[in-house]
Amino acid sequence: MISDKLQKVRKFESEYLQNIDADIRPSFHLTGAVGWINDPNGFSLYKDEYHLFYQSHPYTRTWGPMHWGHVKTKDFVRWERLDAAMAPDESFDDQGCFSGSAMELEDGRHLLMYTGVSMGNGYLLQQQCIAFGDGVNYEKYANNPVVSTADLPDNIDIRDFRDPKIWKENDTYYMVAGARTLESDGVILLYSSADLVHWTYEGVLDASRGQYGRMWECPDFFEMDGKRVLIFSPCEMNSIGLEFHPGHNTAVAVGHCDGALKNFKRETIQSVDYGLDFYAPQTLAAKDGRRIMVAWMQNWVSQMCRAEGIDFFGQMTLPREICLKNGRLYQQPVREIEAYRKNHVFYNNVYVRGETSLNNISGRCIDLIIKVRPVHEGSYQKFTVNLAMDGENRTSFRYNPLKQTVRIDRTRGGFPYDIVNQREFFVSNRNGEISFRVLMDKYSIELFINDGEQAASSVIYTRQSADSISFASEGEVIIDVDKYDLVVE
Ligand code: FRU
Repeated sequence: MISDKLQKVRKFESEYLQNIDADIRPSFHLTGAVGWINDPNGFSLYKDEYHLFYQSHPYTRTWGPMHWGHVKTKDFVRWERLDAAMAPDESFDDQGCFSGSAMELEDGRHLLMYTGVSMGNGYLLQQQCIAFGDGVNYEKYANNPVVSTADLPDNIDIRDFRDPKIWKENDTYYMVAGARTLESDGVILLYSSADLVHWTYEGVLDASRGQYGRMWECPDFFEMDGKRVLIFSPCEMNSIGLEFHPGHNTAVAVGHCDGALKNFKRETIQSVDYGLDFYAPQTLAAKDGRRIMVAWMQNWVSQMCRAEGIDFFGQMTLPREICLKNGRLYQQPVREIEAYRKNHVFYNNVYVRGETSLNNISGRCIDLIIKVRPVHEGSYQKFTVNLAMDGENRTSFRYNPLKQTVRIDRTRGGFPYDIVNQREFFVSNRNGEISFRVLMDKYSIELFINDGEQAASSVIYTRQSADSISFASEGEVIIDVDKYDLVVE
């Protein structure tokens, strides 16, 4: 049954979509139909297409009672908009349909599992709910929630238990959810079920133990190369060196399970993305075996930064292929984006000292690859790439081979508010050699360093006419540059 609230949102979005100027949207990054979006939800393969849902409040450009927006794709670049899938219209979720996941069931139905937020005794309760659908319409299960606050271990705060990620393994359904202990420590809880409706608490999969933040959101847990990988978004963190910054982060823990899944042992932990805007990633296993990740390309800290004249707020990263190498998570933009490359311009062995620009290396919707090497050992102290430039604006990233750091700076990236605009992080030592791949769109820069060893994503609001690019070296370097326009029609 389609409730009044769901009907209302579907009508609102479809009317808006008839009037919007498509040119105002990013050229290859997904945005909501209208209004606010945050986390990706329900990223899943269903009937041969990839479905993505997302947290959405179309009526304003600010966060509000959460709906699930819905799109699907065949190639992770072009998305088809579908009607909103869920509205907060039941007693168990009337304060919001929070984040969750999806999977195709053996009987052909598409299952959504999400957090229903409802009013408890003077506070908001977070409980896990399910809905079944056909890729277009979804029916919420009448006896929701299927995991209620009664299913929580004693030391968990019932106001912070959310974002179920579901999967099936050896005939059992499993689900991980983020939570906060009564002592305000982030944890991931593991549940299992034989029938999707009755769930058993298995144990704590991993916990902050005072180190990685007070609440863990949006977990994802999967197997890769014989390892178990846990991705999650810790909030209220203190900084840890240059690896994690204060506030909201995304982390990936690589480890193994001795016997049961609940015995997950973390071996390494790192940031998933070192930029200013990246949160709540979610992954799926693609048909060809690749693990693909997408995230909200925003951070809660910068949520007040909205470009004037644009009716939507929030965008997704370009989906990324992820893999493990030497215990680290590597990321590359999905290879499908390469089909949209046009106008290749390339330079080999360009000597740079001071600031220079190169003919035809400019633009705002581009795929730009830069390989940097010293002329001789220690020949340079800093190398900077400036993007989205005009007389007033520039967003840059600067490599310091002595400190082994990269510093992103969007202080002049068109932001009307004073927010965190810089971030510095360590990169690996390759004797002064470093490579960058930049996917720049109208309102964002996604940076991939050393063939995906690290990624850094940041939103910019620089006017579109600011499209110059320059390279600057303190000392002498040699660079190779490849540039393509990215044209997605
Ligand atoms: C993460 C998050 C989730 C929650 C959702 C609400 O960004 O806080 O934990 O389910 O957003 O919109």
